[in-house]
Amino acid sequence: MFSLEARTALYDIIRMRRDVRAEFAGEQVAEDVLMRVLAAAHQAPSVGNTQPWDFVVVQDPQRLSEFAEHVAGCRKAFADSLPEERRSTFDPIKVEGIAESGTGIVVTYDPLRGGKHILGRHTIDESGLFSAVLAIQNLWLAATAEGLGVGWVSFYEEEYLADFIGATDPVRPIAWLCVGPVTRLQEVPDLERFGWRSGRALEEAVHRDTFG
Ligand SMILES: Cc1cc2nc3c(=O)[nH]c(=O)nc-3n(C[C@H](O)[C@H](O)[C@H](O)COP(=O)(O)O)c2cc1C
Repeated sequence: MFSLEARTALYDIIRMRRDVRAEFAGEQVAEDVLMRVLAAAHQAPSVGNTQPWDFVVVQDPQRLSEFAEHVAGCRKAFADSLPEERRSTFDPIKVEGIAESGTGIVVTYDPLRGGKHILGRHTIDESGLFSAVLAIQNLWLAATAEGLGVGWVSFYEEEYLADFIGATDPVRPIAWLCVGPVTRLQEVPDLERFGWRSGRALEEAVHRDTFG
């Protein structure tokens, strides 16, 4: 169905996708590219076909700085909570490129989307949330294919971000994504490069028949 070249490209994109903080080039993503990436996000699978996500695009530099300031406070609180040895490993790690990326996309989750009788969510309520996360992964891979970087920022108070974008209960912001052109993508994840935590081997993650 797909050529070897197309399949190779897909696996390359999956392998090369990185969480980007320091490599944003400082330009803003072009509007047509942004819309292609959002269209990819909007094609994600969703429980009961509810498409429970929305995307709030923030590009006003003033607002980006404002949010970055909030995140800096949350980063400090985390740093302060660490034992000395972890703190010195964490110190040089950048956790966001909010201003430099030029674009923030806040992905929200609406648990009421689709009404009361959602096919597939009656026993697993979180399947709605899982669906919104899949939209993020689609966005991330499409952005990588477009030569953009994406950085997921979760160093924020949820209530602050809800207020910041004007989302009201029960709609939840579930991610702030920094999206923008990059100078390069790192080959090794930052947390591995800085000695915070390395990845696991596939063999450790794959189980046959039972978990044990
Ligand atoms: C739910 C989620 C939240 C994350 N939050 C942050 C964050 O606040 N700051 C950050 O620098 N990276 C964040 N990351 C990125 C991870 O640190 C990164 O995905 C991981 O270290 C693996 O690196 P890679 O994505 O480059 O392969 C987050 C990733 C996920 C999936």
